[in-house]
Amino acid sequence: MSERKIVIFDTTLRDGEQSPGASMNITEKLEVAQMLTSLGVDVIEAGFPIASPGDFEAVKKIAEVVKGSSVCGLARCKDQDIEAAWEAVKNAERPRIHTFLATSPIHREFKLHMTKEQVLENTDHFVRKAVALCPDVEFSAEDASRTEIDFLCEVVKVAIRAGAKTVNIPDTVGYAMPAQFAEYIRALKTRVPNIEDAIISVHCHNDLGMATANSLAAVAAGAGQIECTINGLGERAGNCALEEVAMALKTRHDIFNATTGIVTRKLVPASCLVSGITGLDVPRNKAIVGRNAFAHESGIHQDGMLKNSMTYEIMRPEDVGFQKTDLVLGKHSGRAALNDKAATLGYTLNQEQLNQLFEEFKVLADRKKEIYDADIRTLIQNILVQKVTNVSWTLESYSSTTGTGKKPVTSIRLRRGDFVVETESETSTGDGPVDGIFLAISKLTGLELTCREFRIHSISVGHDAQGKVDVAVCFNDREYRGQGVSTDCIEASILAFLDAVNRITE
Ligand code: KIV
Ligand code: ZN
Repeated sequence: MSERKIVIFDTTLRDGEQSPGASMNITEKLEVAQMLTSLGVDVIEAGFPIASPGDFEAVKKIAEVVKGSSVCGLARCKDQDIEAAWEAVKNAERPRIHTFLATSPIHREFKLHMTKEQVLENTDHFVRKAVALCPDVEFSAEDASRTEIDFLCEVVKVAIRAGAKTVNIPDTVGYAMPAQFAEYIRALKTRVPNIEDAIISVHCHNDLGMATANSLAAVAAGAGQIECTINGLGERAGNCALEEVAMALKTRHDIFNATTGIVTRKLVPASCLVSGITGLDVPRNKAIVGRNAFAHESGIHQDGMLKNSMTYEIMRPEDVGFQKTDLVLGKHSGRAALNDKAATLGYTLNQEQLNQLFEEFKVLADRKKEIYDADIRTLIQNILVQKVTNVSWTLESYSSTTGTGKKPVTSIRLRRGDFVVETESETSTGDGPVDGIFLAISKLTGLELTCREFRIHSISVGHDAQGKVDVAVCFNDREYRGQGVSTDCIEASILAFLDAVNRITE
């Protein structure tokens, strides 16, 4: 059989954004979408347009701006959903509507209150409606892996007859096992008479840790599209991780005889961008993109690596975007070295962004002697998602004093907006300097905040390493995340709280 090209459908901006705490603003979504295109993703599911005006706007903007990938909007089998999805994606180079309806007995009985016949009728009706609007329609049988196989075959046949070009078989609750899931795909291939008129897609959740295994088993059984997310983000335990399936297909080409369009050396930058934006850290031992994925600790392994790296490495770190050397830059490094570093880290910056990077690099180099890849990445990511509007709060200055047995005193001056100088200062005590700044910021911004999470870690090595602070605050029963980076931990904490505040007020 000749080599197949597997369609990579990324749903970081839709299912991924449904991860608790992973919500992104429109600028961030746009940045992620641009990155997904440059990564070589075939289809970007940009959101669920009917869900909120913000979701609609984000999908619309991505559809207008992104070139090179299909842009898809999700819709239930409902008139208003399908119309909103079409309105949002219609200006894309290659628009797609993705409509879905649950098919399993438990969903039919308790959620939809529909008979099998009604599910078939709705599938036919709403796929036709979507096809009348959009040339590329995908249909998903939600909870397919818990659906009677005979009925699933019927639904898939009806969806294809109505014009769906892709039929998606989700393992919505992460219940399937690889051999059984592959059997479902083989059954569809052999029992659905018009199956060759559509691509079979799979969308696997990771509740039992099987998302990648199930997706790959489905590909081996004939599926032609994988739905996945960067870092495996997604509802509950997440979705199939894009980086895992891309590297599995590449590394075990001998088994799958299939390729993807993924530019694998951009996987680590993509992972860093998404974790930087969402504040959801990548576990150190995460396959492919975790910090330890290529680290060798035991003496025996290190010895083997020195003799021949293939003794303990099945992939080369540089193939997924890790750098061989963490080349240190400093105060005297020039623009060319910095440009080169940005490119080798996988970022494509325009002239204006490069100029800004150089300015900020110089400021940082004055504060710390050696600048590592992680520092450069952080600078670039801040530039990429920077958004200062006239409702943004920014830090003018602060001072904080504390000590053993002393009451910490904090004063902060904030500015709101680009031009309107509305600085105020506040002196606040707390049970420590971080509590002090939190109280001061709540007071200055007038927002009643509760701090849910505060984490600090260094982003590179050395006593002068930059500190990164991740916070989660609660306002009006909603959680907002924020991040801040600085060589000064108190300043990083202020920046993180302000980042969260700006997400509330934007
Ligand atoms: O998990 C799921 O079933 C989904 C569908 C909407 C495709 O996310
Ligand atoms: Zn899902």
